[in-house]
Amino acid sequence: MALRSAHLLGLREMPAEDITAILDAAVAFKEILHRPIPKVPTLRHVTVVNAFFESSTRTRISFELAEKRLSADVVNFSASTSSVSKGETLIDTIRNLEAMKIDLVVMRHPLPGAPHLLAKHCDSKVINAGDGPHEHPTQALLDMMTLRDKYGELNKLRVTLIGDIAHSRVALSNILGLTTMGAKVAVCGPPTLLPRNVEDLGVTVYYDLDEAIAKSDVLNVLRIQLERQDAGLFPSLREYHATYGVTSERLAAAPKPLTILHPGPVNRGVELDADVADGPHSVILQQVTNGVAVRMAILFLLAGGEK
Ligand code: NCD
Repeated sequence: MALRSAHLLGLREMPAEDITAILDAAVAFKEILHRPIPKVPTLRHVTVVNAFFESSTRTRISFELAEKRLSADVVNFSASTSSVSKGETLIDTIRNLEAMKIDLVVMRHPLPGAPHLLAKHCDSKVINAGDGPHEHPTQALLDMMTLRDKYGELNKLRVTLIGDIAHSRVALSNILGLTTMGAKVAVCGPPTLLPRNVEDLGVTVYYDLDEAIAKSDVLNVLRIQLERQDAGLFPSLREYHATYGVTSERLAAAPKPLTILHPGPVNRGVELDADVADGPHSVILQQVTNGVAVRMAILFLLAGGEK
């Protein structure tokens, strides 16, 4: 089974069959993580470069673990310690890496579209690990895997993304992937943090968190992207928490328990209270484990899919 696309750039054009193929393969790969020796020789012949032009802890480590669990050769490259700081262009940097005979590039970059540009100009397969505020497809896939683990299927599930939708690549990839899979997607946040015409993406819009909670099965709570924000989009963090913070009191008013997702890193006490993040309906750490499995599945399928 191969994916329709040679690269994983985003979920905008990804058909439901490809999403299902990745999620099915991820279930098989997750089993490897629980073995006494959690490693298989599947990608022994493959060399991967992790090119991170923007800070990341979880995603970078998750990709590196996924690559190592599959026995790929791994090279890590971060912008601050490379010739990029000497003025080399993105394409020159990667062409030089390619000349050293690599197969796959995992790239995080602050500019939307950077991985698409790369895919056009080099022979390696490209995986988008987050391009500015645009897309973060592997995060949305691991979120969908976590929901499938719990609910069996995504069709008709009511998932609401809460918070900073306008600056969140996690939000856009989730909206695109979940709607493709037939889920009912909504967004909830202050008008200043919702993109203009967000309804055009096929989502319901709530401005009131209690109404969103009453009409959802799942909340995916997003981090306030302080680093991507011009000042003044909401009055203060305290005010944000009072209006849009997900608290156990608010959740207690819902007709049934909601499942809580968060892509991390959590700003405890801002968008999500600590007792909810650590509570029985939070699947935040399952998301992290599933992240490794989903990335193993994607690496395997892009590298040709021969087990
Ligand atoms: C997300 C990201 O970097 O886009 N985090 C992640 O991938 N672990 C979400 C965020 O930074 O809020």
